[in-house]
Amino acid sequence: RGGVAIAPSVLACDFARLGEEIAAVEAAGATVLHLDIMDGHFVPNLSIGVPVVRAIRRITDLPLDVHLMLDNPADYVEPFRKAGADILTVHAEVLDDPRPLLDRIRSLGAAAGLSINPPTPIEQIEPVLDAADLVLVMSVMPGFGGQAFNPVALDKLRWLRDHPRCSAVLEVDGGVNDETVAACTEAGAELLVAGTAVFGAEDGSSDYTQRMSTLTK
Ligand code: DX5
Ligand code: ZN
Repeated sequence: RGGVAIAPSVLACDFARLGEEIAAVEAAGATVLHLDIMDGHFVPNLSIGVPVVRAIRRITDLPLDVHLMLDNPADYVEPFRKAGADILTVHAEVLDDPRPLLDRIRSLGAAAGLSINPPTPIEQIEPVLDAADLVLVMSVMPGFGGQAFNPVALDKLRWLRDHPRCSAVLEVDGGVNDETVAACTEAGAELLVAGTAVFGAEDGSSDYTQRMSTLTK
């Protein structure tokens, strides 16, 4: 905890040039890479799976922050850990009690992340704050990049920042860009996921150093 970092979300990159895109954000100073895993059930979209994470692991030393948007994350934490995930984040919405799965993620040697969607009250995760190394506050409904930032995330970040029993890293995901980033860091976010704001230049340019530095300014 402490300091602010951008975690580029490869969901918005050019997948035909995945290796180059990752090398480019690494060269631009990224210290974490955010990987979005979708199952077409928990979210109405599909993305990448275990083989792609394994391939990414071979081409970068960046910590891999793996966001599991799945109905049944318990079935997948081991395969993704074996594929090279360093942080495994699961959604509170699909877990009656997140604690056993968070404990299992820790026992696999990864950091345990817990995520909540915009409509989910933050109090829902209060009993398990001690079991989470990271809390991922969604500022959009997950499933797609390029959506507008929902400020409900800011109240949750402040609540977590001020909670005496929360020592988790605070991460925010969705709609983080030049306009919304300052509010996120002021509210306590330390890890800022950015897909479109990093990879999605309308002119197709790839000056990622420039784009990441405006976000952290
Ligand atoms: C949304 C994903 C995000 C997404 C963010 O389902 O969890 O990580 O890539 O994209 P932007 O930064 O474009 O909102
Ligand atoms: Zn994500």
